[in-house]
Amino acid sequence: MAHLIDGKEVSALVVMAVTEAAGALERTAGIRPGLAVVIVGDDPASHAYVNSKTRMAKQCGFNSIQHSLPAETTQQELEKLVVELNADPAIHGILVQLPLPKPLNPEPVIRLISPEKDVDGLHVVNAGKMATGDLSTGLISCTPAGAMMLVKRVHGDDLCGLNAVVIGRSNLFGKPMGLLLLAANATVTMAHSKTRDLPDVCRRADILVAAVGRPQMVKSDWVKPGATVIDVGINRINALEGEGKTRLVGDVDFRAAKEVAGAITPVPGGVGPMTIAMLMANTVRAAFFSTGIAAPSLECSSMCRQLS
Ligand code: GUN
Repeated sequence: MAHLIDGKEVSALVVMAVTEAAGALERTAGIRPGLAVVIVGDDPASHAYVNSKTRMAKQCGFNSIQHSLPAETTQQELEKLVVELNADPAIHGILVQLPLPKPLNPEPVIRLISPEKDVDGLHVVNAGKMATGDLSTGLISCTPAGAMMLVKRVHGDDLCGLNAVVIGRSNLFGKPMGLLLLAANATVTMAHSKTRDLPDVCRRADILVAAVGRPQMVKSDWVKPGATVIDVGINRINALEGEGKTRLVGDVDFRAAKEVAGAITPVPGGVGPMTIAMLMANTVRAAFFSTGIAAPSLECSSMCRQLS
């Protein structure tokens, strides 16, 4: 059976390092990292995510502010709030939870966030820095950064000689994940809904990353024996008899795939906790950037050495 990659354990280390870094910044420069999370509408899943982000920010010792706006909020009102947060020196990170309810358009909102406060790493300046190989001066999208930390925990920092396949090409995950794997010297294939013979493409992967949003779509016979499988999906489905009403599953058929893979992330408890931890890491980095003081390393290689 595959080694289970424990996202809870790794995320706890990240949160510990972030909390220490935040404390040091407050002691030395009198600055408390500030995170503003904005949510529009009343989608229950989005509210659950946002509440855990706000809670974790408080736990890290941040100034944590949540703006919950009604579904009727206009584009102009939302953009006005972002402009105010950009100008607020107590706020170092701004996150607008996606998706936005219709008819709001996320693109102009993301463009409006100051790149220095864009803790989602979605602004074209941060996306462009990553695309051009600058992984140190910008902010990197949280879920790919967290997934990458789990990959490096298994394979180390250099993925030279390994084939990586990412299924999904979104701006929030697939594209940045492909770029991070490439920056670590993997040979990367970006697969998507129009890819021909997806199972065959997946079978060539030493590292298979699934972010399709379809419950248990990736079958065990798509997995190369011994491969590392990173499951980014979080799907709520009807439970089996006697298990309550619903349960969470990933994009991978975990029960069968774990018998073939060398290492695999569970859902829940794999990539999920890493996303929030990396949001905290981005916020503390943004706070350090604002002072010009060098931020302590929150890289996988330094933190994973602390694990057994
Ligand atoms: N919705 C789901 N994941 C995310 C995320 O990482 N950032 C934002 N802004 N919205 C999301």
